[in-house]
Amino acid sequence: MSKKTIALASDHGGYDLKETCKLFLLEMGYDVVDLGTDGTASVDYPDFADAMATALKEGIAEQGVLFCGTGIGISIAANRYAHIRAALVHDALSARLCREHNDANVLVLGGRTTGVEVAKDCLKVFLNTPFEGGRHQKRIDKFS
Ligand code: RB5
Repeated sequence: MSKKTIALASDHGGYDLKETCKLFLLEMGYDVVDLGTDGTASVDYPDFADAMATALKEGIAEQGVLFCGTGIGISIAANRYAHIRAALVHDALSARLCREHNDANVLVLGGRTTGVEVAKDCLKVFLNTPFEGGRHQKRIDKFS
């Protein structure tokens, strides 16, 4: 079975962790679409949340991972889109539950708050955990 395509985007605060996670995803056999940023020069995180929203809307990737310094700003920006359910997580349990209960389609990690090994754990769990549906679907339907 071919692996999913995962879109990545960050601002400068999340750039290093994005690059690390990109290599990790490629090692695991995923296809990766990198939406930027492409260095540590200061940029505005909403622009990269917008790029993620467009990529998912157009079906360029099935799921996404966003990064900024804390993960907070880019989460707020991404969740303004109705088709995005972005979950800022700091541990593998939250990464599992945001899939099982919230059907999150975007994982968000903080480049200045989350270490590389924790980030890798979160990524692996996020990508391998299915949505449970059932009562959780009913709740998600209420978002709109
Ligand atoms: C950029 O300095 C920083 O504010 C940004 O990466 C993020 O942490 C915002 O929430």
